[in-house]
Amino acid sequence: MPDGNRQIVLTSRPTGWVAPENFELREGTVPEPGSGDVLVRNIFMSLDPYMRGRMNEAKSYASSFEIGEVLQARVIGEVAASKNDGYAAGDIVFGMLGWEDYSLAKGAASLRHVDAELAPLPYYLGALGMPGMTAWIGLREIGQPKAGETLFVSAASGAVGQIAGQIGRIRGCRVVGSAGSDAKAAYVADELGFDAAFNYKTAESYLAALQERCPDGLDVYFDNVGGAMLDAALEVANPFARFVECGMISQYNLVEREGVQNLVYLTRKRIRMQGFIVSDHSDLLPEFMAEMAGWLESGEVKYRVDVADGLENAPATFIAMLKGENFGKQVVRIGPDS
Ligand SMILES: NC(=O)c1ccc[n+]([C@@H]2O[C@H](COP(=O)([O-])OP(=O)(O)OC[C@H]3O[C@@H](n4cnc5c(N)ncnc54)[C@H](OP(=O)(O)O)[C@@H]3O)[C@@H](O)[C@H]2O)c1
Repeated sequence: MPDGNRQIVLTSRPTGWVAPENFELREGTVPEPGSGDVLVRNIFMSLDPYMRGRMNEAKSYASSFEIGEVLQARVIGEVAASKNDGYAAGDIVFGMLGWEDYSLAKGAASLRHVDAELAPLPYYLGALGMPGMTAWIGLREIGQPKAGETLFVSAASGAVGQIAGQIGRIRGCRVVGSAGSDAKAAYVADELGFDAAFNYKTAESYLAALQERCPDGLDVYFDNVGGAMLDAALEVANPFARFVECGMISQYNLVEREGVQNLVYLTRKRIRMQGFIVSDHSDLLPEFMAEMAGWLESGEVKYRVDVADGLENAPATFIAMLKGENFGKQVVRIGPDS
């Protein structure tokens, strides 16, 4: 067993944009598993926008990261040592572990086996993981898209957006996406089969871009970004549209949040707008996994992963992801597959 364990800790809480000074790489020790525990050698770690919220002190659905503690993340790793009958050295597992080379899963809490033959390991942090399930749940519980309807997805090339749009396509919707570069917009239209996509950063106005691509209005908005795009979507929405409030990443790093101007349409158009948190629906994980695995296997759903190399690069990669520099689901490779 190696004696070094590189770990990334939160040293201060960001105000506004996250900065490299909010993190520190420190050298820790590899923990010894006690009875019932599993030691995991981390291979891939997920970086997700919700982590920005956990860096604040404010009360939320997920507890705040503690100053001086190793940051937490969803991880795919290999069991390095086990004192738990359910896990053996060499098993590939998923767990809520840490930004570190080795993590101890006390009592194997949060661990589950993953099938390394079924899909590339990073997919368990993306299409077959929390982001994929977020898209699936949001559409199933709130969006309820029907064939022939128009679905609009923002942050369409991201971890959640890619899946939301493709589920809409499978359900027979006209699917429109927005993304932050020409290459991302081309990817969702040409590779993922969205009917139309646009680069919101170069669009003359969000409203005009949406009106042009949603000639029959929009029936479901899968909102990943909030802000001015939400205002434009409210204006283009049809009567009885459903707004799936998945996230509002455009607001996460603002010291003062922007207002939404067009809420008046909620009443006039009888729009239903609802937020949700994927972890409230963990009982549906097996159903989600079965359906998504089928789509991936048949090729109906494709998925792009953006792999950054090296635990030491995780803070810079996280900051870049919040700024839209990721292209696909952002993961960090911490160690080799085997
Ligand atoms: N409700 C839930 O349970 C749940 C679960 C997971 C995720 N989420 C939410 O889902 C959303 C997407 O998360 P993800 O994991 O799929 O991340 P992601 O889309 O893979 O990465 C974040 C993307 O957000 C976009 N972005 C950043 N700043 C923006 C801005 N000011 N305006 C518009 N877009 C901006 C960037 O793409 P562009 O280049 O396109 O700008 C960036 O690539 C987030 O809001 C997240 O909080 C919610």
